[in-house]
Amino acid sequence: MSEKYLLTTALAYTNGPLHLGHARSTYIPADIMKKYLKLKGKDVIHVGGTDNHGVPITLTAEKEGVKPEDIVNKYHNEIKRDLDNLNVEFDSYGKTHSDIHIETAQEFYLKLKENGYIYEKEIEQFYCPKCDRFLADRYVEGTCPFCGGEARGDHCEVCGRHLEPTELINPYCINCNTTPELRKTTHRFFKLSALSDDLRKYVESSDMPEHVKNMAYSWINELHDWDISRDIKWGVPIPDSENQVMYVWLEAPIGYISFTKQLGDVWRDYWLKKDSNENENNNYNTKDVKIWHFIGKDITVHHSVFWPGMLIANGEYNLPSSVISGGYLTLEGRKMSTSKKWVVWVDDFVKYFDSDYLRYFLMVNAPLNRDCDFSFDEFQKRINTELIAIIGNFTHRALVFSHRKFKAIPVVDEENLKDEDKELINKCKETVEKVDKHIMEFNFKDAIMDIIHLAKEGNNYFQKMEPWTVEDENRLKEILYTCAVVVKHITYLLYPFMPNKTMKLLDLMNEELDLEIRGNDLKKPKVVFTKIEDDQIKMVKEKLLKSEDANEKRKEKNKIKRNEKGDSMDLISIDDFAKIELRVAQILEAEEVPKSKKLLKLIVDIGDEKRQVVAGIKGHYEPAELVGKKIVLLCNLKPAKLCGVESQGMVLAAGDEVVALLTPDKDVPVGSKIC
Ligand code: 2FM
Ligand code: ZN
Repeated sequence: MSEKYLLTTALAYTNGPLHLGHARSTYIPADIMKKYLKLKGKDVIHVGGTDNHGVPITLTAEKEGVKPEDIVNKYHNEIKRDLDNLNVEFDSYGKTHSDIHIETAQEFYLKLKENGYIYEKEIEQFYCPKCDRFLADRYVEGTCPFCGGEARGDHCEVCGRHLEPTELINPYCINCNTTPELRKTTHRFFKLSALSDDLRKYVESSDMPEHVKNMAYSWINELHDWDISRDIKWGVPIPDSENQVMYVWLEAPIGYISFTKQLGDVWRDYWLKKDSNENENNNYNTKDVKIWHFIGKDITVHHSVFWPGMLIANGEYNLPSSVISGGYLTLEGRKMSTSKKWVVWVDDFVKYFDSDYLRYFLMVNAPLNRDCDFSFDEFQKRINTELIAIIGNFTHRALVFSHRKFKAIPVVDEENLKDEDKELINKCKETVEKVDKHIMEFNFKDAIMDIIHLAKEGNNYFQKMEPWTVEDENRLKEILYTCAVVVKHITYLLYPFMPNKTMKLLDLMNEELDLEIRGNDLKKPKVVFTKIEDDQIKMVKEKLLKSEDANEKRKEKNKIKRNEKGDSMDLISIDDFAKIELRVAQILEAEEVPKSKKLLKLIVDIGDEKRQVVAGIKGHYEPAELVGKKIVLLCNLKPAKLCGVESQGMVLAAGDEVVALLTPDKDVPVGSKIC
């Protein structure tokens, strides 16, 4: 039975359109592979869609005063428009907010439960008494216990650390500013930690690239069970729970299965295991179906560990053979940022340039698994001096000359060709093999470089043969036939990368997408590969800078407004500083805060009283080594609860990777004021 390929692309969150980074890491590579395998006559499908649940989507909806469905539909359509504009084709494209997905995800969950991989546990979560709801993930904000920066839910925006929301200092509900309280709730957990051995064997037997395997192993060594419940309404309801939905990362990848189901019964051939003993035999790598997940590198662990873990625990489905993770894209040497408007949206880009140029540039600029920079100057340079000057030039010259002389591609008997003609035709065949090897290894850059190289050979041959001087018609036909063979090979091999341009070339040649030469009449040649002009580049660069600038100005204006209202200030007066009471304190007792990865509870002497404070220094100091240490304490901070433990002040510490407590550098009495 012939091999089947199921290619999937990461399901984009429906809270914004696509930018060049998405195109480069995920969608263009998958589409190239799909088009190439199809060209080779393989059974291949590409399945994708959008990821419609998760807190960022409900937050956007609340901010805009609309329903989450409205946000989802708006961006689902915009994302699909962007993919169509990039010429990325799907056999099935779905939405996770759909009946078929919800049903599939719920069945999947029940199977995990039936197989003993789900358990319940009571935990404490923030609850806003005013809004009367639990505050999942990013619905709560506060101060980071490590750096004092603003932290959103489980993530500090300043130091970038992952936090438990219950560790936040002075937490507040982002909807109404109320201080939340901790309430007990029963959550479902997925026993991921029980799967370490199976996962190790799976990764070992998979076709994942070595760097992905290594990343997966390091996660497998530290697996924790997964809290998969969320106390919110938007999401896939957990079938055996009344008010909870599944954590978005549990249900989203199941979309790969549900969207394949949209194709009808054939979905079974791709997903269902042939032999239910496959796992027991440690044979996770099915021979006849290759499931390849194309993703951005930030979600590698989800696809190489968590998702395969779910599939192993479920037991019914084939596992991914490989995970192809594309590196990040920087823009003009700087990290892309949608909030800073340092971004190029696909929709804008295709207004000015052919999407084929983008597909070409993003693949040739760096190997897929490496980070890559998009700069407009470099883009123009590579398109004009490489693509146009080499491939465009050769194909155009060959077609123009054949049209002028014969109005058609001359067909001759290859047997009678001269050695130099045969040599070039052999190079075409070698290039097919080389390109095949590169593409099948996801090495798109080298595949393109080999096609360019063939076009260079074509140009050299044309130059050397000087067809404009050849008077013997038979010889001229042989030369132009040889050139046409090269043009057809270039067109065929370049098609997965540049479908628009190559189809235009084939149209001019009246030819099919294959390697044969039929000798059909040629259409009047037109320039297919048009140059990118300096003016175009100048204009798009100015547009990018303007949009960043306008964003900066808008932010500055908002800041001034806030300052006028007294909400935030960059400079403080000496009177403000005088409000802060810093004292030298001595640690009397130190112990770990139960269930917290980062917090220690300290009892400190501040001269005239003892205080209990909570500090985010666990892992940086052993409790025992702290006792007796003199430190600096912010004494007049409003008391706050961290992980349910009251903190009456804040210990000052510096550093990020290495965290150091501030201590007086001479022995001064406990309680000394710092000013
Ligand atoms: O990171 C993201 O954009 C996620 N929406 C990707 C989900 S991929 C899959 F697992 F559904
Ligand atoms: Zn609230």
